[in-house]
Amino acid sequence: MHKTNEITRRMSHSIKKIVFFDFIKNQKTLVQFEYNKSIQEFTTFAVPVQAEVFCAFSSIDELKEILSTEKHSKREKLILGGGSNMLFTKDFEGLVLKNEISGKEIVKETEKEVFIKAGAGENWHEFVLFCVSKNWGGIENLSLIPGNVGASPMQNIGAYGVEIKDVFHSLEALNLETLKIETFSKEECRFGYRESIFKNSHKGKYIITSVTFELQKQPVFNTSYGAIESQLKEMNVSKPSVSAISEAVIAIRSSKLPDPKIIGNAGSFFKNPVISGTQFNSLKTQFPQIANYPQKDGTVKIAAGWLIDQMGWKGKTIGSYGVHKNQALVLVNYGGAIGKDIYDLSSRIIQSVSETYGITLEREVNLY
Ligand code: EPU
Repeated sequence: MHKTNEITRRMSHSIKKIVFFDFIKNQKTLVQFEYNKSIQEFTTFAVPVQAEVFCAFSSIDELKEILSTEKHSKREKLILGGGSNMLFTKDFEGLVLKNEISGKEIVKETEKEVFIKAGAGENWHEFVLFCVSKNWGGIENLSLIPGNVGASPMQNIGAYGVEIKDVFHSLEALNLETLKIETFSKEECRFGYRESIFKNSHKGKYIITSVTFELQKQPVFNTSYGAIESQLKEMNVSKPSVSAISEAVIAIRSSKLPDPKIIGNAGSFFKNPVISGTQFNSLKTQFPQIANYPQKDGTVKIAAGWLIDQMGWKGKTIGSYGVHKNQALVLVNYGGAIGKDIYDLSSRIIQSVSETYGITLEREVNLY
């Protein structure tokens, strides 16, 4: 069945090239509109999906030209960065815009700090490695996270005790209504746990074009996360450095999380739920081992991976997809699954956790 779909898809795929004149650069730019295009390879879950219209852009001017052409169309728009946090359960009826704006620029440098601006289409991990090679501290704990720079503030990516908001300075985004670039400060982004204004009230209204980070030349390291400490010990590192922490994180992630180039996945499929202190106390008497992180405001964050693992889901395989064998928070596509398979599996997991613990897990991955 998948094969037939693929053949139909290939047959119907067509390309329309539009040449624009870029008055700023005084040269012609070529923007390619592709119809009924498979975007499977642009998402890390790698489920079959096609976009009604697809167009990549590598500059703000190209993006503006595309949006002007689309001015009268009522088509829904979707921005694709690294495609690392999305699951398509059906084909996308609308315009998929692939952000390929690249470039890195030091916008300010002091004795202690570097403010570096990166194009939204830069690969996140390559950007981290670049900063690590310069010995600029701040994002080494976020090594090996799949995706692009532009997506990092969208959901305030985080790992091993560090979140984007800790190093974020500002971002620039194109307002889809006015076609003007606007700058957002840290406060304006309203960061929360895997949250920002771009996942809420500003969803679908802006396209992030660049992000500026504030990195440290004499960094204070965050090795509080148990796994980092033990990994550094194993590596015989007594004095942490930017590169040693990056290497430790790469080693931990590689051992626990599947490489999306080999096994389709979107990292943590669910968020860690936050419950009230009262609910936690009653759960704790019933389940004394429950993995938890008390929050400053009296609420308690529960490890969703622990809950799912306890329900026996870890490593479960249903044909060509399932739950990862080393981390129950990660759903995987071994090849051949469709988005609905993965979605249905996530619903079954949510139901089983809810029945036993009375906690409704929320999906972290964006669904389309
Ligand atoms: N656990 C289990 N079984 C599992 C997975 C986890 O019992 O299958 C337990 C662990 O033993 C531990 C606790 O749950 O006691 C927490 O596990 P872990 O340290 O692996 O972290 P996590 O809370 O499951 C979060 C992020 C990850 C991030 C890690 C490390 C979320 C939703 N996930 O996972 O982020 O890498 O912490 O900081 O917050 C991602 O967002 O895609 C992602 C991978």
